[in-house]
Amino acid sequence: MSAIEVIPSARRLIKSLRDMGYDFAQAVADVVDNSVEAGATLVAIDIEFDGDDSWVRIADNGKGMKPDALREAMRFGAERAYEADDLGKFGLGLKTASLSQCECLSVASRWNRDRADIAGYSWDLAHIEKSNKWEIIPIDKNGLNASIRDPLKDRPGTVVLWKRLDRLLGYKHPYGEMSRKRLMQMCREVEVHLAMVFHRFLAGEAGRRKFKIMVNGNAIAPWDPFCRTETKTMRLQPVVLKIEHEGVNGEVTLEPFILPPQHAFSSKPAADAAAGPANWNQQQGFYIYRADRMIQSGGWSNLRSPDEHTKLARIAIHFSPALDEAFKINVAKMRVQLPGAIRDAVREAVAPVVKLAREVYDRKPPSTNPTCSATSTRPSITSSAPPSSGPVPSVAEPQRKGNLVGQSPATAVSAPAILTVDQWSTKLLEAATDDERPTVERVLQRLRSTMR
Ligand SMILES: Nc1ncnc2c1ncn2[C@@H]1O[C@H](COP(=O)(O)OP(=O)(O)O)[C@@H](O)[C@H]1O
Ligand SMILES: [Mg+2]
Repeated sequence: MSAIEVIPSARRLIKSLRDMGYDFAQAVADVVDNSVEAGATLVAIDIEFDGDDSWVRIADNGKGMKPDALREAMRFGAERAYEADDLGKFGLGLKTASLSQCECLSVASRWNRDRADIAGYSWDLAHIEKSNKWEIIPIDKNGLNASIRDPLKDRPGTVVLWKRLDRLLGYKHPYGEMSRKRLMQMCREVEVHLAMVFHRFLAGEAGRRKFKIMVNGNAIAPWDPFCRTETKTMRLQPVVLKIEHEGVNGEVTLEPFILPPQHAFSSKPAADAAAGPANWNQQQGFYIYRADRMIQSGGWSNLRSPDEHTKLARIAIHFSPALDEAFKINVAKMRVQLPGAIRDAVREAVAPVVKLAREVYDRKPPSTNPTCSATSTRPSITSSAPPSSGPVPSVAEPQRKGNLVGQSPATAVSAPAILTVDQWSTKLLEAATDDERPTVERVLQRLRSTMR
């Protein structure tokens, strides 16, 4: 007997696909992932309040898509070959993230540097409701209004436009002050979220070209959870854990940091910023990065609970997309689980970090010098040793020679500044000419993959 194709009900399924659990900022971040992948150096996010006609636009200067590629991109479950450090995975994000926030998603793309041809398609829930078919609507030249066409006037790139923002505004009083305030609040939340999850890209640390995000014309500054420019931040020895999951071998790197207590920061604004979006207690714990993009920001993944006394401990955990199955990444790329195979090793590695964080927390602030300390003589405790392969970081006797984080005056005199790989990468990329830069990026990427 031949198989029978049973096509899902478009009308019903597309509605369920709106509820994957994205909030606004997470949805924007998923669209920005695509821009990173497309080689963009600039993403401009504009949020326009105009009652029912309010819109959100995410425009990049990446390589753009030809019409057939754009049609495939619009497909739920778009197919393409993924690379090892690819931020994409399921072929869904563009659609599911967008439609989690709006009823009409339009995407326009220009792929040619010299010609301003633009391809455009929309997913419109009102149309699906009527047709009950998985149909996208081509946008012809006349349908390309200024808000979607303008960013592509002079260069290739892709514009994602969200209209009919039912999930954001609610439609009782769409022109009311509450709606306007809500949208403005969303702007701030999106800034904070993007500054955090893309901080390595924004700082040019990710071995890729430096990447800029603007929200309503404001450039977003990276938020570094580890405050690596603070002289009193302690960088402890990294730990590399080997993992084998269903035939895939990989490495997971833990980079532990102890942040300074508030009084030891260089300034009060720096201490306030370090608290992070969810504040000190909730921001302690693991910062889990997949291909340099932050997926989890704080929390102890059920290994411990947040505790006021350990709030200065923050630990970066890096894994590559090859380990997606082991980390059980969810479709919205918002949640991961620590693989069972490394939980014990991670617990063991975390114990001395937490102990030290507690000690630092318990130290009394110097009574005469309540803010931090250009005059302090205690060197920041860091380690310049290469990653160890054992599970336990040597934090009980931290090395006090090379300083990877920054130099306190006491060590600056005796020890030469040792640059981190990230700092070197940035310098190299800055020094390279436009022609040399892609080669330098490739070499850096190769170097990083051998170091991880
Ligand atoms: N801004 C963009 N620039 C270029 N190509 C894009 C862009 N956004 C999406 N695409 C293409 O559309 C495809 C589908 O995107 P998406 O639905 O987010 O799934 P995924 O990122 O998991 O592949 C991407 O794989 C990419 O080929
Ligand atoms: Mg994507």
